[in-house]
Amino acid sequence: MKKNYLIDTHSHINMIESLDVEQVLENAKNNNVEKIIIPGASAQDFDVIMQLIEKYDNVYGMLGIHPSEAKSWNDELIEKIKKYAQNSKIVAIGEIGLDYYWDKSFNDLQKEIFIRQIKLANELNLPIDIHDREAHKDTFDILQEYNKTSKVVMHCFSGSVEFAKECIKAGYYLGIGGVVTFKNAKKMKEVVEAIPLEYIILETDAPYLTPTPYRGTENQPAYVKYVAEEIAALKNISLDKVTEVTTSNAECIFKL
Ligand code: NI
Repeated sequence: MKKNYLIDTHSHINMIESLDVEQVLENAKNNNVEKIIIPGASAQDFDVIMQLIEKYDNVYGMLGIHPSEAKSWNDELIEKIKKYAQNSKIVAIGEIGLDYYWDKSFNDLQKEIFIRQIKLANELNLPIDIHDREAHKDTFDILQEYNKTSKVVMHCFSGSVEFAKECIKAGYYLGIGGVVTFKNAKKMKEVVEAIPLEYIILETDAPYLTPTPYRGTENQPAYVKYVAEEIAALKNISLDKVTEVTTSNAECIFKL
């Protein structure tokens, strides 16, 4: 069956301030975005995510501790994640990974917490949604060493064409968001041109990284269509094709 709707696979709708959730979801629906996945960043997000996925049919969640929050880790979180992940609308562990952009003072702790969560994802048989900021090599090496069974999405992919090719060779998927619409995002545009659509899924990372033409305002799931349109233009294919393939990819990865 052809998929004619979009999915925003990484959207912090719990962090959008200028709209309430009802409005966010209505705007999404009016722009053909049928499903939304909320990533976890800190433990404070978990209960909000559980409430939202219970309340709204088309909203799914991930649970994970963002690398910038690594210092807040405690081992009780493992049990909490295991318990919450019994809900079938928890579809991944994320966003987890490494971030050397903001603060390099606790890289070793970031790595440790990343590895624990990879093992947890493997145990729970869930895919992993990766946050990698200026840490491409370490992120990749850790995934290669520790991830045994989980599907991997490189959320907000920000590497070179060469790194993108290395990732898809390893079977990883690339999450592509608003950055690709930026005029000066030459590297991202090259990545999208070079990588087969079969390895791409769409996301907004709302409320951040708002695509053109709405830069400067808060991002929201409805704007994932601008990402899809840019990919269609770069690859010189129809918007329908981008929609169909990226939505099938996302439904397959996250078992939506
Ligand atoms: Ni995010």
